[in-house]
Amino acid sequence: MRKILITGGAGFIGSHVVRRFVNNYPNVQIFNLDALTYAGNLENIKDIEQAPHYTFIKGDITDAPFIDALFQQHQFDGVIHLAAESHVDRSITDPLAFVKTNVIGTMNLLNASRAIWKDSTEGKRFYHISTDEVYGTLGATGLFTEASSYEPNSPYSASKAASDHFVRAYGETYGLPYVITNCSNNYGPNHFPEKLIPLFINNIIHNKPLPVYGDGNYTRDWLFVIDHAIAIDLVFHQGKNHETYNIGGFNEWKNIDLVHLLCQKMDVKLNRPVGTSAQLITYVKDRPGHDLRYAIDATKINKDLGWKPSVTFEQGLEKTIEWFLSNEEWLSSVTSGEYQRYYEKQYLS
Ligand code: NAD
Ligand code: DAU
Repeated sequence: MRKILITGGAGFIGSHVVRRFVNNYPNVQIFNLDALTYAGNLENIKDIEQAPHYTFIKGDITDAPFIDALFQQHQFDGVIHLAAESHVDRSITDPLAFVKTNVIGTMNLLNASRAIWKDSTEGKRFYHISTDEVYGTLGATGLFTEASSYEPNSPYSASKAASDHFVRAYGETYGLPYVITNCSNNYGPNHFPEKLIPLFINNIIHNKPLPVYGDGNYTRDWLFVIDHAIAIDLVFHQGKNHETYNIGGFNEWKNIDLVHLLCQKMDVKLNRPVGTSAQLITYVKDRPGHDLRYAIDATKINKDLGWKPSVTFEQGLEKTIEWFLSNEEWLSSVTSGEYQRYYEKQYLS
């Protein structure tokens, strides 16, 4: 049986990737390695945990001897690497944590892969999941292509850019078979409520202020998380070695317009009078180094691999809101404890 290691599979995007691989590939042994940080939650993948070809491993990618031993033991054929510190605001208060996990952690996985594939790289693949934020910011026009230069502006995006560079360097220097994708903002079920959409859904439910950074005129390109998981499956199996693919939603929204749309939808869902949720909108201090606009040109993955988003934003947002409203237990469990301390520091101090 072929063996695939997915890292970060208890997190937001990783959980959808793990589910897809476990359900679609019964003849492949799927290993999910996750340190279960504040962002990792085994509830996200409860439905597949009993599958006979699935194994969860609790472990930290920054622990090199542990990673080396794990790779020697299992001799993985493929690695799909999602484990990361992923929130820009946290990277501003604790940049070093991002270097440790996103750069050193990735290095450890690269070194371990190189060691077990030293005799043959036939059928092997290291897939690094990255972000469009490595390209920095766009002005009012233009799109990020695979040829855009790297100009990261936050400690988070700098750490992801560094890890992208190391993956590429291992390909060039040691012949490691790799592929990288740089994706735009995901949204959907299991999204941790520190990020814009789930944070605002949670705050609307609890009648709490909706903290819009700066003037709200920042633009993001939103993609439904399951469409990202579909793209990852496609790139892992059909992408070309030593290539990068951009993944995006063809779906740009100014934050403030998105927040108004969310407020309208939540009013309907919660049977509140029109305009109730919008009254919670509060403009707050801007994020330092806030990137003005991200937008992806996803022509390459569309032309080469035939991928395009399968749901509209309207459909995806509807599914997302429904999921959060029907999973209030999940929401309250992830917003207790450490989350409260984070929330106070980020928004109330
Ligand atoms: P997330 O924060 O929801 O999940 C990250 C997961 O990694 C968690 O389960 C966490 O426990 C695990 N993890 C963190 N540090 C670890 C460590 N040292 N060892 C092992 N596991 C560790 O993140 P996400 O939003 O699902 O993002 C997943 C990946 O996709 C990241 O690499 C991120 O940079 C990238 N990405 C995210 C988005 C987005 O919009 N969320 C867009 C493009 C790319
Ligand atoms: O573009 C891909 C990236 O998208 C991923 O690599 C990151 O892991 C992911 O977190 C996301 O980064 P952003 O910084 O774009 O996402 P976030 O949800 O934090 O913020 C989206 C926009 O909303 C951004 O312009 C900042 C703004 N915002 C965010 C929060 C949390 C607010 O106005 N208020 C908030 O409270």
